[in-house]
Amino acid sequence: MLQTPGFHHIAFVSAGLQRSRIFYEDVLGLRLLLDRDRDERLQRSPYDLLFGDAEGSPGSLIAFIEDRDARKGHWGIGGIHHLALTVRDRDQQLRWKRWLTDHGVPVTGPYDRGYFHSIYFSDPDGHILELATQGPGYDFDEPADALGEQFIQPDEERLRGERDEATIRALTHPDPVEAIDDEMRLDGIHHITGITDRLDETHRMYTDGLGLSLVKKTVNQDDGETRHDFWARYEGTRVEPRSSITHFDWRTSQYRARPGTGQTRHIAFRSDSDDDLERWRDHLDGLGIEVGATRDHAIFRSLEFVAPDGLIHQIATPFTPPASTGPESEAS
Ligand SMILES: [Fe+2]
Ligand SMILES: [Fe+2]
Repeated sequence: MLQTPGFHHIAFVSAGLQRSRIFYEDVLGLRLLLDRDRDERLQRSPYDLLFGDAEGSPGSLIAFIEDRDARKGHWGIGGIHHLALTVRDRDQQLRWKRWLTDHGVPVTGPYDRGYFHSIYFSDPDGHILELATQGPGYDFDEPADALGEQFIQPDEERLRGERDEATIRALTHPDPVEAIDDEMRLDGIHHITGITDRLDETHRMYTDGLGLSLVKKTVNQDDGETRHDFWARYEGTRVEPRSSITHFDWRTSQYRARPGTGQTRHIAFRSDSDDDLERWRDHLDGLGIEVGATRDHAIFRSLEFVAPDGLIHQIATPFTPPASTGPESEAS
């Protein structure tokens, strides 16, 4: 059976590349891997900027498509609510809170989600970003070898309305942060959270379609009435980093996402190799999922399909970053 190892990239719509570039490169410390102005290969892709970690590894990639004429988008059913990037631990997360706040970026949190800790802020277009700690992990409140099997009700004190918001607001790193050092460096996609009104079909798409497993069945801790499910690449006891997709269940809502700036154009999962894209096509086809044409972007190949709630998904082949942005060149 085909299984994706996890995320490949997420594609955001930007109203202005200059400020996206400054924010992701200077404020978040990501590596600018490709820039349409400098790299001819991007001429054959829809992407204008591509950021990632120093190695350009899959699951670290954030692509930007500029659309100066697009209206402002909004999250809702069939859209992405937020992107979470990985931060090492609570200490580094507090340094991020201080760094961002000192750069004029308002931050909420840190919130104790149980299985990780989270702070939130927005990029210049309004994309909601989260920095989530690596641990404690999804086995925080259920056995590592039985994740997602039962519904988990979070502890009361973690829910909105019960937690101590004033203390949370006041919590930050005591000293100014001089620069983003190695300890602070963000380590790829922690999870991506969407909103769906078709939870059961979404579940089938991620499990039968992409080979992911349900690893957490719980509620949104900011809205205790809303079911919140997590899927990831999960091999018995271990959840692969950079593979966790989560959805809020809005089955009773009519509030749909509006495409545009500040919204996600699509999310992309990885194929293992260049060769298996056609196997993915056959596999998804066999499940009755309509798959669009294979696109050769020069930087990688991808195919596209639409989830039952309208969210655009892709499967993409491995990405080889330009040599000049590799870690060796950094050392020299
Ligand atoms: Fe999140
Ligand atoms: Fe893409």
